[in-house]
Amino acid sequence: MALPTTVRIVEVGPRDGLQNESTPVSAAAKIELIHRLQNAGVSIIEATAFVSPKWVPQMADNAEVMAGIRRKPGVTYPVLVPNMKGLDAAIAAGAEEVVVFGAATESFSKRNTNCTIDEGLARFEEVAQAAIAKGIRVRGDISVCLGCPYEGEVDPAAVVHVAQGLDAMGCYEITVCDTIGTGTAGKTRTIIEAVAKHIPIERIAGHFHDTYGQALTNIYAALECGVATFDSSVAGLGGCPYAKGATGNVATEDVLYLLDGLGIETGVDMTKLIAAGEYICGVLGRATLSRVARAIRAKAA
Ligand code: HMG
Ligand code: MG
Repeated sequence: MALPTTVRIVEVGPRDGLQNESTPVSAAAKIELIHRLQNAGVSIIEATAFVSPKWVPQMADNAEVMAGIRRKPGVTYPVLVPNMKGLDAAIAAGAEEVVVFGAATESFSKRNTNCTIDEGLARFEEVAQAAIAKGIRVRGDISVCLGCPYEGEVDPAAVVHVAQGLDAMGCYEITVCDTIGTGTAGKTRTIIEAVAKHIPIERIAGHFHDTYGQALTNIYAALECGVATFDSSVAGLGGCPYAKGATGNVATEDVLYLLDGLGIETGVDMTKLIAAGEYICGVLGRATLSRVARAIRAKAA
């Protein structure tokens, strides 16, 4: 199959990236990061999560972050929502798109959202119905599609079960997530093809953590299947607090370099994106995990 000519990059750094930081990051710094990302041409920015602050204290400033964003026309700011309480708070904060997040294994579902897979789907259905009735778009993420920290190998049929549930409740897009980065290109293809038997490929997205250094290869495998939407995290920030040892998402700069090299349009400017990554790395007091950002800076120096 020919590769897509355009790819939507969904920047998840402000949420997936910063939810895992042990040192607190101020709402002002999160807002500044979001502004820099949108100035770099990123048009979908996962801004925060309306989850329980007891579970993820790093996202407790969700309403403050949403209130502080200078919204740019054409940019969407999806937020994670696990239940009706989260949806109500997200609506009050002016969210126009929400993300529900299920899992392909019972153990991960329990650890991440304190419910079984099907209890989670029932909660998300209530959320999706209420959101869609208010004109809010709903995206559905599926964690641990390519390996689970508690159960190991994952049956593609389990991923398909959750994907079908999310589809039936009206999610416009279903994101296949490799939470712990154990996936490889062949496995990625198998899972995407299994899901694509039930959901049109245009409505499937990929979310690859780079723990084993396979994320770009997995993205290429997914591109070959026709997937044209990918989540990534500037400077490679992130992880999941309920997946010990999982490192960040693939760095947005590295994904952009791959896509630019393939002549695939994204609308994102590399120089401004690298500067956004440098900004947040400065706040965190750490070096970037983006190989591309490091290489481009080293060349310029
Ligand atoms: P629970 O403890 O079963 O919930 O947690 P509960 O209904 O019993 O409520 C417990 C307390 O939390 C109550 O407060 C609720 O009011 C409050 P209390 O009465 O004790 O003072 N609460 C809330 N507060 C604010 N916002 C809410 C909310 N809900 C309840 N929405 C729950 C269940 C789902 C809430 C919890 O497990 C949770 O918040 N989990 C989220 C975990 C999380 O955010 N994980 C990281 C994001 S997922 C991820 O990173 C993976 C992804 O990137 C894809 C991938 O890579 O795989 C998306
Ligand atoms: Mg993630």
